[in-house]
Amino acid sequence: MNYIDTKIKTSALVLSEVDMEEIKQLKNSSKKDMQEGALPDSLSLCKECCIAIVDDEPINIKVAQKYLEMDGYKNFVTTTEPQNALSIFRKSPPDMILLDIMMPEISGIDLLRTMRDDETLSHIPVVILTASGSAELKKEALDLGANDFLAKPIDPNELLPRVRNVLALKKYQDQLSEYANNLENIVLQRTEDLNLSRLELVQCLGRAAEFRDNETGQHVIRVGRYVNLIAQELGFSKAECELHEMAAYLHDLGKIGVSDAILLKPGRLDDKEYEEIRRHAKFGKQILEPASKKEADSLFSHSEIGSKILGGTTSPLLLLAGRIALTHHEKWDGTGYPMGLSGESIPIEGRITAVADVYDALSSKRPYKDAFPLEKCLAILREERGIHFDPQVLDAFLNRIEDVLEIQMEYSDNG
Ligand SMILES: [Fe+2]
Ligand SMILES: [Fe+2]
Repeated sequence: MNYIDTKIKTSALVLSEVDMEEIKQLKNSSKKDMQEGALPDSLSLCKECCIAIVDDEPINIKVAQKYLEMDGYKNFVTTTEPQNALSIFRKSPPDMILLDIMMPEISGIDLLRTMRDDETLSHIPVVILTASGSAELKKEALDLGANDFLAKPIDPNELLPRVRNVLALKKYQDQLSEYANNLENIVLQRTEDLNLSRLELVQCLGRAAEFRDNETGQHVIRVGRYVNLIAQELGFSKAECELHEMAAYLHDLGKIGVSDAILLKPGRLDDKEYEEIRRHAKFGKQILEPASKKEADSLFSHSEIGSKILGGTTSPLLLLAGRIALTHHEKWDGTGYPMGLSGESIPIEGRITAVADVYDALSSKRPYKDAFPLEKCLAILREERGIHFDPQVLDAFLNRIEDVLEIQMEYSDNG
């Protein structure tokens, strides 16, 4: 059957030919079903759905719409110009589409294909209206995701239950999708809350360790912020920078294991006392991460204590914090502690924190020294380039000195 023949056949159906009695029967049976509770509430809600009808013959639209209106549907968007259908749907997506196949300008198949490739329209169910019995055409439409077929001329006994089923399914899908969206929003909100409380807990823990020798506890916050800047400059991702910042808040956690007499001593430390304070790096590692017997034996001094405190974790944050606690006093030339690692065998997070930590110690007042002016701090850092510090890491820090000074002001020990 060619296009013209098809049109003649389908256009032959006029409203006056509609079996009004049949429609009334259908309507009554629907009502009866509703009264008996056979139709769930969601099906009655379907009557509010918007049904689009695309057909180049106005009479076909009129007939289908009339049948549907008599069954209680109220909202329609119709067009006899298929070339305008997509823009109409994009502006206000309908709940389902009754789509004619044989139309001039653009066929229903082409429209369907375009819709399935369009993210905003691909989920809308489509029922194909066709006078053609072509199996090939049906297969093509099904392959493109058509939901159902209706033969022309339209039979209300087929139209109404099919529309009802398609809309009921669409309603359930919408509800599921809304539920999934709500769930996703709740998860996002909870994750945000959890991240915030994690950040606050980590900051509190870091500040607690610092509290005895630095009443404001701002040292660990500044070091964490400097570490973030350096990591940014070295090309770490935003998430990695934030993780490094948080982990660096805990770099001196092992100080918990160092006695007040040594930690708060105003003057110079003797060799024994210095040896004791060095233990904080090892303590920090042990607190943050479980050390094997072999590893523990290879560690010594203050790094050991911090490490022990942070033990027993598989959390990426605490594992990173454990490595920072252990290695933030290692030096590029291998003369640092606790392990005397050198060059790139020192984890990058340790090399970064070393620069941040030393700068903060130089630029802050300590029991044994006053705060040094900026130029003196920078001169000392530069002298240690390639000796104490990884040259690349130091350069990254110096590149961001303006931001460093802002952080220094914001988190000043003087409030
Ligand atoms: Fe330290
Ligand atoms: Fe420190």
